[in-house]
Amino acid sequence: MALPVASRTPAPPDPILGLAEAFRADPRPVKVNLSSGVYVDDTGITPVLPTVLEAERRMLATETTKLYKPIDGDAAYRAAVRDLIFTPGHEIVAAGRSATSHTPGGTGALRVAADFLVQEGAPRTVWVSDPTWPNHPQIFGLAGFRVRPYPYVHPGDRHVSIDAMLAALAEAEPGDLLLLHGSCHNPTGVDPSQEEWRRIGDLVEERDLLPLVDFAYQGFGDGLREDADWLDAIARPGRELLIASSFSKNFALYSERVGALTVVAKDAESASSAQSHVKVAIRANYSNPPSHGAEIVTTILGDPALRAQWEVELAGMRGRIHENRRVLVEALESRDIPGDWAPLAHQRGMFALLGLSKEQVAALREEHAVYVVGAGRINVAGITKANIDPFADAVAAVVGK
Ligand SMILES: Cc1ncc(COP(=O)(O)O)c(C=O)c1O
Repeated sequence: MALPVASRTPAPPDPILGLAEAFRADPRPVKVNLSSGVYVDDTGITPVLPTVLEAERRMLATETTKLYKPIDGDAAYRAAVRDLIFTPGHEIVAAGRSATSHTPGGTGALRVAADFLVQEGAPRTVWVSDPTWPNHPQIFGLAGFRVRPYPYVHPGDRHVSIDAMLAALAEAEPGDLLLLHGSCHNPTGVDPSQEEWRRIGDLVEERDLLPLVDFAYQGFGDGLREDADWLDAIARPGRELLIASSFSKNFALYSERVGALTVVAKDAESASSAQSHVKVAIRANYSNPPSHGAEIVTTILGDPALRAQWEVELAGMRGRIHENRRVLVEALESRDIPGDWAPLAHQRGMFALLGLSKEQVAALREEHAVYVVGAGRINVAGITKANIDPFADAVAAVVGK
């Protein structure tokens, strides 16, 4: 016997990807899947963006080698990511106190951040919002962190429970990691207001916490710059933080695994030193990053015409999600389903949390072939002309009783 005994019992299916498998296997003719975390258009397809196809055409015509990338990626990619996060001339850029590494997706960025912190002997407590993306506790837990929840949105509420959140975080120790969703909070769709970001930033300073901003949905909320509205509150002059970017959603490059970890240090020397340690974490993990997705992002961001076109494509995805939110609220309200649905129209990003009980979520699946995650997280992008009525009828049946 060689394998660990625990590995002989199957692991539970992934809470989100497992549902997709169950949906595929469901034989009922009318079924609705709003559980996935990817953008889909009105035909249920996740298309390749035209700018991505154009970038790939150019790359194919000019590519000469498949040599390894540098451990932290190409300089052009790292600069492009930095300039997407920070406004031109931002104090952090001017001081050269950020260092970006190319990682395989946002997940890779989070895992590299966790490994880097453990490797450097940082405090091993991470505070995550309740609720959060289920992979957050898994990534940090397996990297050796104690994962502590902070209240974020009370089930059924449509706003940040800011007082409860700050009260819980007042218990955090200096150096603890504070995981924040930069925009389009997954799963609630509820982001802090400017004033709430300021209060979070004040607490970060008072408790001397290390923020890690998970920036997986830049541009999916209100716009590329608008979605960075946490920046001034959290990235204050002299303060240190980490940022995990993902280009899975805003470039629809899901399978290419392209993202970045940006370390912001107190000065340029500390940033460069920290980067050398991040490179050790990467080298020991996957050695160096996959090339293709980052080449696409660099090609698009580096060409003014392509970049302008990509921003139009991104605005198209964003606009469709906003319109779907309106359609969703109308469908729920027109059925007089008890609940406060109107605020769903003004939330950010791909997800809305309906605030359903476990029993209601199970009834949606078992009695109506409607698949949603956890406490009723739905992918708003997945709403189509064809499925909105069966979906809203099913919610009315399980909630309106
Ligand atoms: C909050 C959050 N962070 C990170 C990620 C990871 O994205 P990627 O697919 O780039 O690893 C996701 C993906 O769903 C997410 O929802």
